[in-house]
Amino acid sequence: AKVAVFVSGTGTNMAALLYASRLPGAAYEIVLVAANDADAGGLQIAATEGVATFALSHKGMSRADHDAAMEKAALDAGAQYIALAGYMRILSPGFVQRWEGRMLNIHPSLLPQYTGLDTHARAIEAGDAHGGVSVHLVTEELDAGEILGQIAVAIMPGDTPDTLAARVRLAEHQLYPRVLGDYVSRGSDPRHLLERLRALAL
Ligand code: GRF
Repeated sequence: AKVAVFVSGTGTNMAALLYASRLPGAAYEIVLVAANDADAGGLQIAATEGVATFALSHKGMSRADHDAAMEKAALDAGAQYIALAGYMRILSPGFVQRWEGRMLNIHPSLLPQYTGLDTHARAIEAGDAHGGVSVHLVTEELDAGEILGQIAVAIMPGDTPDTLAARVRLAEHQLYPRVLGDYVSRGSDPRHLLERLRALAL
């Protein structure tokens, strides 16, 4: 399957997805890494690794126009799926609807707990035993789509949001490639297609 990855920042999850895609038997390839910031570190990694990149700042543009340009770049690259990996923009409803069931996101909490920002600080503050990470389908409601996979990460005494984030990041890098690979494989599995047809017929 062909996947476009959207990033805004350092892109360590994008890199984990990319290197996993180079393992023998990988179920997906990354056809584009796109960012809303030309300085996003993820773009440099992708370019150095020979992956096509696209960058367009959202500043001074309407959300609809920016989304349309990002979507066109993904489609021009032949993407069948979009993986959001630290993409810090909310996508417009039309975009989300067109990619329904074909757009995934990684979120650094055990959803449905702690949607939104500052997840690690909130988990520590609450005295939780675990933080963690979730990969989910993107729907219009923020961080609320079907959860495809999770890893819990124990919170250690003395953890700060930064130390916890660093360990959760290790779990993220394990989780995202596995879940994305399994998900796109499901999409082309005839048994799964049959199940979906049956569900539609009901
Ligand atoms: C990760 O913590 C991810 O869960 C969140 O944004 C961060 C992106 O980090 N959505 P990176 O750019 O992949 O290193």
